[in-house]
Amino acid sequence: MNLKAIHKDLLKWYLSHKRELPWRISQDPYRVWISEIMLQQTRVEAVIPYYERFLSHFPTVKDLANAQEDQVTNLWVGLGYYSRARNLHSCAKEVMDRFQGKFPNTKDELLSLPGIGPYTASAIASICFEQKIGAIDGNLERVIARLLSLTVNPKKEGKEIIQDFANNLVSIGEPGSINQAFMDLSSAICKPKNPNCNDCPIQKYCLGFQKNIQQTIPIKEIKKEKVEIQAYGFILVRNQKILLAKRAKKEWLAGMWDIPWNISLESQKEISKIVKEKKSCTVNRTITHHKIAFSVYALPSAQNLEEKIIKKVSSPVECYRWFRLQELEGIHLPKPTEKALGQLWKHLEDTK
Ligand code: ADE
Repeated sequence: MNLKAIHKDLLKWYLSHKRELPWRISQDPYRVWISEIMLQQTRVEAVIPYYERFLSHFPTVKDLANAQEDQVTNLWVGLGYYSRARNLHSCAKEVMDRFQGKFPNTKDELLSLPGIGPYTASAIASICFEQKIGAIDGNLERVIARLLSLTVNPKKEGKEIIQDFANNLVSIGEPGSINQAFMDLSSAICKPKNPNCNDCPIQKYCLGFQKNIQQTIPIKEIKKEKVEIQAYGFILVRNQKILLAKRAKKEWLAGMWDIPWNISLESQKEISKIVKEKKSCTVNRTITHHKIAFSVYALPSAQNLEEKIIKKVSSPVECYRWFRLQELEGIHLPKPTEKALGQLWKHLEDTK
């Protein structure tokens, strides 16, 4: 492989085709870090408005470190994978405490911070500090596996080959631009399906293209089926207040306010023993590899059920709190919960 030629052609293409993105206006590690965390599992177009809103609330790492956790998670609602928001907040505090508010500039030190894994550490180190490290995510894996005509699993047997290739390439110079050139190439040209090889600036070096096997690379792993489960949630409204639970650490949706809910059948049995007439609806929710049928019950306020719910029904939570109904506007509940509240609201009118 002629690395120098690939480097030159890729960089030239990047300089004339690169996307204008709000985190590319500077090499400020705070701005780049926020973008990289938001871009995990989320498309660029979806991230941009969240990114701008987040930066206007927290323009510096100090502002973020001094924020309340709820303020941070509220700005995250809709992006999913909420542990990212909690880690972001913890990481900002550590950058203040351990590094006097200045992001460290080596991959190893970055890796020691909460929520920063090998890809993110490499991206920040190369984009902000010119460290010569390839930042390999699923997109770069695909591009490089095609370029090298790699027919082994890029996450296993092919992992080191891909990392070595990227490290060698970025060592020639401009590591941040080369990593980002691959990112843009992967989204504009070397797409998962129907890659647009005719417009590719490095087509002539691509061994996958030469063998016409680029569409079959990377080889497919058999996808895990989503596990289907049933969950039960409970709406309790009394004296103009609603009972919410802050999800415990290590539980799904950690740190978010939600109605109390659980996946155990026991919780539903327990409720059916004590409540004869109840209104319910079922909405779908998806969390990581689970497809959840979420049955939500509006419970009569006359019976004091909160103790039962708290002791027997809900999964582990950090704390419970009764919120005034007017306060709900300021709290971002998970979308399936809002949907269920919308459907059951009319039955709650007489209980408020
Ligand atoms: N995806 C992850 N990081 C990115 C970046 N810096 N630019 C564009 N897409 C990305």
